[in-house]
Amino acid sequence: MLQSFRAKELPKVEEAMLTFIKEHASDEQLGKSMMYSVKAGGKRIRPLIVLATTVSFKGEVDKNAYQVAAALEMIHTYSLIHDDLPAMDDDDLRRGKPTNHKVFGEALAILAGDGLLTGAFQLLSETSLEATKLILLLQLLTKASGTEGMVAGQAGDMAAEKQRISLEELMSIHQGKTGALLTFAFIAGGILADQTDYVIEQLQKLGQHIGLAFQIRDDLLDVVGTTEMLGKNVGQDEKSEKSTYPSLLGLAGAKKALKTELDLASKVVENLREVEGFEPSLFKELIKLFAL
Ligand code: IPE
Ligand code: IPE
Ligand code: MG
Ligand code: MG
Ligand code: MG
Repeated sequence: MLQSFRAKELPKVEEAMLTFIKEHASDEQLGKSMMYSVKAGGKRIRPLIVLATTVSFKGEVDKNAYQVAAALEMIHTYSLIHDDLPAMDDDDLRRGKPTNHKVFGEALAILAGDGLLTGAFQLLSETSLEATKLILLLQLLTKASGTEGMVAGQAGDMAAEKQRISLEELMSIHQGKTGALLTFAFIAGGILADQTDYVIEQLQKLGQHIGLAFQIRDDLLDVVGTTEMLGKNVGQDEKSEKSTYPSLLGLAGAKKALKTELDLASKVVENLREVEGFEPSLFKELIKLFAL
């Protein structure tokens, strides 16, 4: 069911991103660099969460939802381009292709990231959402992406290289760099489906557990996964002496932490079953995607 939902809905998110870049990137090389990273694909997990959440509560999605999902994926793609830069993780493979700076050079890679970041907010502002909903989504996306969300997490991640930090500190870094955008995906889906404060609170909890689980899984896959499977080089975290779940807790401890977060996420979905009109089947399948 999730598979057919994905096949039916995600092409509309792709179209929203590609149309936006085609229409608004007025410098040819900049447009090419932005297109390169967007077209390289990726799992599109954040747009999938936005759309699956909206549908689970509302039964349908519309153009506004595709645009919100596209804006979020543009921010995520920008975060990856910058994450791969020599000054950050210094990676040369992403989404199965050479990283943006390897193809276009560092300056254009930085600018492609800037273009995707600012473009995301332009795209969101151009939806036909009602003003109060739009402002709320703009505020939440700014917070999730910025200095109390992803950007803060990335700063913490860089500062924690070659350091011994506590599990609490690592959790907070992961919640920022990865959890914030994933949490936004669930909350945005709830807002698009006109849900109550109670439901939004539950979706926030769900997002926090899935967000943490997602980064624990990413840390684990850097140790136990393969380049072919992930489309990015493995073993990078150990090379840069990153603070990760496996480096702090060992493989078994990290796997256990992943399971704990996914069990907590499933509990939130159980709570949501009491909400009138909620259809849990997509969520149940979704949570399974984050297991190792
Ligand atoms: C990778 O995100 C970066 C993290 C936040 C761990 P994804 O695993 O969602 O990357 P893509 O979008 O599929 O390439
Ligand atoms: C990246 O975390 C998180 C963001 C891009 C915000 P990682 O550095 O672990 O992601 P990968 O492993 O390079 O995809
Ligand atoms: Mg990183
Ligand atoms: Mg990285
Ligand atoms: Mg990683």
